[in-house]
Amino acid sequence: MFDDSLHSMVLSEDGSYTAYSKEYGEHYHSTKDGALYESLVKHVEPAFKIKQNQEEINILDICFGLGFNTLATVYHHKKNALSSKLNIFSPELDSSLVKSLVDFRYPKEFEELSHIILSLSENGIYSDENLHVEIFFGDAREYVRSLAPKKFDIVYQDAFSPASNPVLWTKEYFGEIKNVIKEDGVLTTYSIALPVRAALYENGFNLYLNSGEGFRDATVASQTELDGFIDVDVKHKISCNPHIKSLRD
Ligand SMILES: C[S@@+](CC[C@H](N)C(=O)[O-])C[C@H]1O[C@@H](n2cnc3c(N)ncnc32)[C@H](O)[C@@H]1O
Repeated sequence: MFDDSLHSMVLSEDGSYTAYSKEYGEHYHSTKDGALYESLVKHVEPAFKIKQNQEEINILDICFGLGFNTLATVYHHKKNALSSKLNIFSPELDSSLVKSLVDFRYPKEFEELSHIILSLSENGIYSDENLHVEIFFGDAREYVRSLAPKKFDIVYQDAFSPASNPVLWTKEYFGEIKNVIKEDGVLTTYSIALPVRAALYENGFNLYLNSGEGFRDATVASQTELDGFIDVDVKHKISCNPHIKSLRD
């Protein structure tokens, strides 16, 4: 059974199911944008627009949750017949959630990934010639610190909101992310909150707007300048809102 005392399955507007966390009082995805659509347009597509031509791509998926970002990455990769080897590393506190994912009603797009879902749910790991996925059951910050100086090409920043899970959005946290992301690595997040963008900016990231049809604006960040995205002038926004500060530990 997927539904339990802490989680319930909820249908989102693109027809895919997400979950509601009774512990955090939040959905795992925007029910309006849709779980699968949100994962594709806010994380996978913008990241792969920049990174698809590498032989090997290392991804940090913060945090695993229902695994949509990891699974949508594999789906996108197969659908577009991309040849890069993918290595995905993902921390997650809630091991009982991951164990229950065999019973989660995933979208039909993930049907051909059922062997991966089963292996991740049962063992927290999946490996074949072109794909390695590893879930770390524990605290994301501890995990990120243990990874340095491993260098990631892509970071999906998809924690619960800054209001309910602030420790994964602070200036110090993004400083730890900076230690493990490559200089030309790309970070994607649904958050457009100025305190979050300021925390990234204060760590030397350039900020870009990720906007498009049928989804709410999101953010892309990189220490390198990116083409094809609209700049967000964080310095100017902060000067217009001097009371706003980056989140801190
Ligand atoms: C918004 S959900 C992630 C959704 C996920 N990316 C997906 O596509 O299904 C946030 C997840 O962060 C996990 N979490 C919260 N605090 C954490 C921490 N300190 N370390 C690791 N995982 C954490 C929660 O258990 C939850 O599964």
